[in-house]
Amino acid sequence: MAPLIDPFARAITYLRVSVTDRCDFRCTYCMAEHMQFLPKKDLLTLEELDRLCSTFIRLGVEKLRITGGEPLVRRDILTFFRSISRHLESGALKELTLTTNGSQLARFADDLAALGVRRVNVSLDTLDPAKFAAITRWGRLDQVMQGIRAATKAGLRVKINAVALKGFNEDELFSLLDWCAGEGHDLTFIEVMPMGEMGEEMRLDQYWPLKDLRARLAERFTLTDLAERTGGPARYVRIEETGQKVGFITPLTHNFCESCNRVRVTCTGELYMCLGQEDMADLRAPLRASEGDELLEQAIRAAIARKPKGHDFDYSRQKVAGQVSRHMSHTGG
Ligand code: GTP
Ligand code: 5AD
Ligand code: SF4
Repeated sequence: MAPLIDPFARAITYLRVSVTDRCDFRCTYCMAEHMQFLPKKDLLTLEELDRLCSTFIRLGVEKLRITGGEPLVRRDILTFFRSISRHLESGALKELTLTTNGSQLARFADDLAALGVRRVNVSLDTLDPAKFAAITRWGRLDQVMQGIRAATKAGLRVKINAVALKGFNEDELFSLLDWCAGEGHDLTFIEVMPMGEMGEEMRLDQYWPLKDLRARLAERFTLTDLAERTGGPARYVRIEETGQKVGFITPLTHNFCESCNRVRVTCTGELYMCLGQEDMADLRAPLRASEGDELLEQAIRAAIARKPKGHDFDYSRQKVAGQVSRHMSHTGG
């Protein structure tokens, strides 16, 4: 079976699948407070999601990340994990993982670990309960902390994802670092991307370039760039004084698109070939048009053949360029 290769000779081996557009939080940089969610009838069923993922795996996908919205609020989600984990057992899939806000981890961590999930990425921008409540609008920090503890106890590795936000968590750089070191979690910072409508000024105001964050770290510690990769966009450094690993996801200050290996599918079966572009292909119609996977496979190949070179996000002229209209919760990051 010919693998999925895009026009820039990049092999597509990483699929991110959003299983719901709903979330129990409303992070201010990610969603509007009053979101219009998709009608449930538009969602792919768990069986359809399985068929879709299995087809991608047959086409060479080795890393599958389940996202949302918040993936663990999708009804019966364990049924999906249970069935898709057969590809881990067969060896076709190297990694099955998820990105979560952590709110439901206390309920799910043991089962996820038993089904072959080895690590989870948990979004956490602050360790201050009041700030956490403000940034997530609806979230409670202690619930997430319980979730993270449950994950660790279940043997899952936890990577904390923190969006770097000027004036919001700048002052927590070292406390986040210390906390992660103490708990044994990896930590990755992310530059805020212009996804979903938000006033231009607000977006620019909240943008904290990771170049600056890194410089701040380097004032206190010796940083060594690491060559190791997890197959995602993060680039890692080791802090020599503590041995801790810190990741940087820098769509704005250092573009990583040339090594892009991924595409994403939404909960209604839209295939987005790039997080930062509007173009997409509908996979639900070919999925539903026949019981076989031939049409689906054709549609996937046709879409990969037009994967763009990269995003056009840019704040460098004191303006927001390359904005895409959909919210991050639509494609799960
Ligand atoms: P690891 O397996 O831990 O490397 O995961 P990952 O970094 O691929 O996934 P995660 O879900 O933790 O993503 C963290 C952040 O990176 C999210 O906010 C995404 O929006 C962002 N991100 C992931 N992939 C891409 C990408 O292809 N392009 C851009 N611009 N951002 C991405
Ligand atoms: N820019 C960067 N990261 C974002 N996330 C959500 N919205 C944005 C944005 N506009 C992050 C979440 C989560 C991941 C899936 O994406 O915090 O860690
Ligand atoms: Fe790939 Fe697009 Fe992300 Fe760049 S922005 S790394 S091309 S998905």
